[in-house]
Amino acid sequence: MEKIDLRSDTVTRPGPEMRRAMAQAEVGDDVFSEDPTVNLLQEKTAELLGKEAALFVPSGTMSNQICLRLLTRPGDEVICDLHAHVYRNEAAAGAVMAGLSFYPLAGDQGRLSRDQVASAIQPENIHYPRTRVVALENTNNRGNGAVYDLAEIRAIAALARENGLFMHLDGARLLHACAAGGYSPRELAAPFDTVSICLSKGLGAPVGSVVVSDAERIRDAVKIRKQYGGGMRQAGILAAAGIYALEHNVERLGEDHRRAKKLAQALAGMKLVKLNPDHIQTNIVIFDISPTGQTPAQVQARLEEEGVRVIPFGPTTLRAVLHLDIDDRDLERAIKGLGRVLGDG
Ligand SMILES: Cc1ncc(COP(=O)(O)O)c(C=O)c1O
Repeated sequence: MEKIDLRSDTVTRPGPEMRRAMAQAEVGDDVFSEDPTVNLLQEKTAELLGKEAALFVPSGTMSNQICLRLLTRPGDEVICDLHAHVYRNEAAAGAVMAGLSFYPLAGDQGRLSRDQVASAIQPENIHYPRTRVVALENTNNRGNGAVYDLAEIRAIAALARENGLFMHLDGARLLHACAAGGYSPRELAAPFDTVSICLSKGLGAPVGSVVVSDAERIRDAVKIRKQYGGGMRQAGILAAAGIYALEHNVERLGEDHRRAKKLAQALAGMKLVKLNPDHIQTNIVIFDISPTGQTPAQVQARLEEEGVRVIPFGPTTLRAVLHLDIDDRDLERAIKGLGRVLGDG
């Protein structure tokens, strides 16, 4: 029987209708800006987020890194959470490609407060880097998929403006945040100068992220994408999957959040798990298996034998993520498998 794959929401495979849309896509050479399907995806994404322009890029990492380059010069500093993807999970790209320094803060499940950000802004002094960007992540991958309150984001943005700082949003799962946070993509994007959104995380597209900003920055972003080797040719085949994802796979995100909650509640009831189900707001469930006395890799291997795939996500934690390819029956099977490994003392 096929394993239930909860390692990430990136493991989804394009279904027949998405593949049909890809096969039928009108294409051109996108390095000449002549791919009509790429252009359409860019227009649709800019419109969705209420910004002037957008740029299709191969990955969320490239998208984040292009945004940081757009907003900084070498030696500048970026304020972010301690576990922010842009700081911890992009192979030091911010340091290597943009010459940046980071000021990491311990957020509440990855969410920074206005006062924390205020405490990290460097005063004007020859010894300090110039603070230039506040980078927020919503939803927050390492923070149980936690969602920001819009009021806090707006307070941080007001502070940033007072201090001449730019705002960047790592919105790899921006639409998950909107589904759970009760705000629209436009409301969420408004306080930010640059936004990165992924089409391959929970939305079912095989590849692709989009940088969204004002028209002038997006013109500069085209050149940075080229420098990073991200200029693609008949990329409309990929963009068509992104358009399909935005049109068909957004409304259903609440189902993943509902299933994640159910999984969290089941895990919280298992003897060998520590987890507060109230922390689970979206599709990411991080749970502590220290009561087993085993490493995450050992528990992961046991779960594999039971047909459930999860990934180690810290010294004592594993992560399970709900997505498009997991239905209620899969979830029931996963809960049973998890219970066989983690339910007994
Ligand atoms: C919050 C966040 N930002 C950025 C990325 C990077 O995306 P990619 O794997 O497409 O480079 C990820 C990947 O999982 C992510 O979770």
